[in-house]
Amino acid sequence: MGNMKTEIRFWFDERLGISSIAGFLRKKMVPQHRHSLWYYTGSAILLFFAIQVVTGFMLAFYYKPTLEGANQSVARIMTEVPLGWIIRSIHSWSASFMIAFVFIHLLSIWIAKSYRRPREFTWMSGVFLLVFTLASGFTGYLLPWDELSLSATKVGTDIPRSVPYVGVWVTKFLRGGEDVTGDTLTRFFSFHVSILPLLIFAFIAVHVYLIQKLGMSLPLSVESKKEKVKELPFWPNFIYREMVVWLLLFGILMTLAIFLPPSLEKTADLMAPAPEGLRPEWYFLFLFQTLKVFPPKVLFINGDTIVVLLILAAVILFFFLPVIDNKPAEKKGKVITFFAYVFIVFAVAMTVWSLL
Ligand code: HEM
Repeated sequence: MGNMKTEIRFWFDERLGISSIAGFLRKKMVPQHRHSLWYYTGSAILLFFAIQVVTGFMLAFYYKPTLEGANQSVARIMTEVPLGWIIRSIHSWSASFMIAFVFIHLLSIWIAKSYRRPREFTWMSGVFLLVFTLASGFTGYLLPWDELSLSATKVGTDIPRSVPYVGVWVTKFLRGGEDVTGDTLTRFFSFHVSILPLLIFAFIAVHVYLIQKLGMSLPLSVESKKEKVKELPFWPNFIYREMVVWLLLFGILMTLAIFLPPSLEKTADLMAPAPEGLRPEWYFLFLFQTLKVFPPKVLFINGDTIVVLLILAAVILFFFLPVIDNKPAEKKGKVITFFAYVFIVFAVAMTVWSLL
């Protein structure tokens, strides 16, 4: 019997090379220090992405991306489809968790300066993942096609318009025409269920490949101590710990999904004025509020144009952060870390302000 097992293993190994992968994972070590907790944030995002894919497939069996059918099909998922309400609720909560953990992940990496040489491409692929994840949230929000989601999409897709030269074209491209219509719904559906998931999948593959190739970085504060850092084998010790974290997060997610399912408003009316108290999803609130409170004109220039250009500049700077902040470890200043805290305070303050 034992012999047979070895033979089967050999048969697969000869064709798939599994033993070299297993050998690699067994050799891989994860540093253990005061800040190790942050190493779990990336795999938490993986968990939520997997949940999005599975629940998204299920929802796609019943969802209809048409003007007449969209809102009704979601209502049907909520009331008639067996367990449909909980699947929709998990999809909605897990989207929020995924985005929250993308923010926590990138802030921890920013503060620890883990983007330094040779992890520039890991960081840059991460910035793409941030954009794609936010875009998934934005496009998904329209799909229930109720009053709130229609107005939020009208406001959101109008924002690029204030960028000189290309802005109008971007708005038209996003909407599939001058205004938000059924064509926008078709387009957002395509982005949400095929283009964005494929892009996220491809970029996760690159991201994870680079992480495996380069190993975990040490936060600057640990690295500069020059002491030998304790290490934990990735397989099985670290994976087991990750599983405990996944289980905890899954428990929290299920509890929220069961007790606080998302609502569904009346079908969107393309002619109706925007409802009172219009707000985007929580993760866009700080941008929404910044646009709202910025002066409408600064020295003859449209206020929105300034904000949108500032955001674009910030994203580009952020993308090139590892290139800008590339001094060797001993000469690192604290300026870049300081900006991370400024961003946190600004985003939280703006979000709270928007809720007042
Ligand atoms: C869908 C989104 C993302 C997924 C699934 C993901 C996944 C992961 C995983 C599994 C790790 C290894 C464990 C860890 O350090 O937490 C990791 C590390 C890393 N991620 Fe992400 N990530 C995402 C987004 C981002 C973003 C937005 C950034 C930055 C802008 C980023 C930059 C990095 C860097 C630089 C590392 C290496 C950290 C180190 O070596 O210590 N990632 N990511």
